[in-house]
Parts: sequence; structure tokens; C-alpha cells
Amino acid sequence: MRQKIVAANWKLNKTLSEGIELVKFLQLKVNEYDKVIKIICPTFPLLYPIGQVLNKEKNFYLGAQNCSAFEKGAYTGEVSASILKSVHCDYVIIGHSERRSIFNESEEILKRKLERALNENIKAIYCVGEELEQRKNRLQFDVVEKQLENIFSLNNEQLSQIIIAYEPIWAIGTGVNASPKEAQEMHRFIREIIAKKDTNIANAIPVLYGGSCNAGNASQLFSQKDIDGGLIGSASLKGEEFIQIIYAAS
Ligand code: PGA
Repeated sequence: MRQKIVAANWKLNKTLSEGIELVKFLQLKVNEYDKVIKIICPTFPLLYPIGQVLNKEKNFYLGAQNCSAFEKGAYTGEVSASILKSVHCDYVIIGHSERRSIFNESEEILKRKLERALNENIKAIYCVGEELEQRKNRLQFDVVEKQLENIFSLNNEQLSQIIIAYEPIWAIGTGVNASPKEAQEMHRFIREIIAKKDTNIANAIPVLYGGSCNAGNASQLFSQKDIDGGLIGSASLKGEEFIQIIYAAS
């Protein structure tokens, strides 16, 4: 049985007081027996203070939304993996489609980010997913397979620190989720691709679904054989809704 994981990608939302209030609400609603790993990914300045209130006994962990491809030095505005580690970050999202498209992050850059994070023992939530046009042309499997190449150069120990998030771009923030069948089909494909490298890792690696996942569709999505939880954007900003998503994974 793979561990269920629900990650909250707050993106560019939540001030410090709003973030603390939300986390406190969630932690009140969840008991110690809840085994779902909950990863809260706020903006950089909120990492340390949010980390201070996260309760690991209830399986709440801290994640960043990005990290630098550089280690240290004259890179104004960047935040390195080692700095993330120093504020007790356990996870980092790498390769989110918004980073790929708006900030032009190439596969090469993403590979360096992955290496930086894994060197610091930060687990990476590596995002993959196709555009609508690509799906219409039935290219979704080719696109995702290509995006997965980055993790193929990792050794098995590093690979075991990776969580994959399948996020079809046409589903992100649109209110149109992939159907459980479409998502399951891709999650299974992802596992098959990884199995070419190592079957044990392919069976063990968590593969999360992201893209308009909400309280209404989470249980159906999470009940699919190869879906191990979700990477949640807008629905993670509302306490009442996000708690339902956590319950759906429990
Ligand atoms: P969404 O975003 O849940 O708002 O669609 C998901 C994501 O971008 O990670």
C-alpha cells in the first residue's frame, strides 16, 4: 500500500496571518491517526513561520513551490535548496507548468533544480502534464514520457525521493478536471515508464493528480488504483474544502 499524499500549492496567495489561520484550522480538524501526508506549500517568506506551526505528529509537512538551479552566490532574487533546508523544508515542487511556461524553465534547468533539491535531502514533487492541443492530437503520452526523462538520469536512491504530480495543463485552474479514467490511464502509464528503470520504484513511487481537483471529485480520483493523492491549487486555499480533500484521501 502506497502512502496517500495531499499537497497544497498556495501559489501567489495568502499573507502570513491568513496562512497561519488556515493551517491552524486544518490541524484542528485532523487527528493524530490521520495517516495522509499533508504538504503545505506557501510562498518563500512564509515558509519559516508556517513551518513553526506545522504539526508533524499529525503528518503536516512543509514544502516550497520552487528552488534555484544555483547553489549560492550572486543570483539576486533566488532561493537555494540549502536555504530551504535551513528553514526545515522537506519538499519542493519542481517543474510546475506555470514555472515551465511563464518563467520559461527548460528541462535542463529543471534537471539542475532536481539535483539541487535531492542533494539537500529535500523530496521533489516533479510535475508533468500535457497541453489541451497535445491531448487533442493524442500526444499526451509522448509529452509526459519526454518530461519524465529528467528523472531517468537520477540514481535509484534519488529516484526514491521523488513524487510525481500529473497535472494536465488544460485542467489547472479551469474547473475542468481530468476524468478519473483519463487520470488513471496516465498514472498507470507513468508507472510503466518508471518500471523500465526499476519495477520496485515504479510500484512504490507516489503519483499525485493535480488540476481542478476539489472536494466534489477528490474521492473518485483518489480511489483509482494508481492515484496516490493530489496536488491542489485553488481548493487548498479554503479550509472547509481542503479538509474534505484530506478526508477523501484518508
Ligand atoms: P488547481 O491547481 O487545483 O487550481 O487547478 C493545481 C496546481 O496548479 O497545482
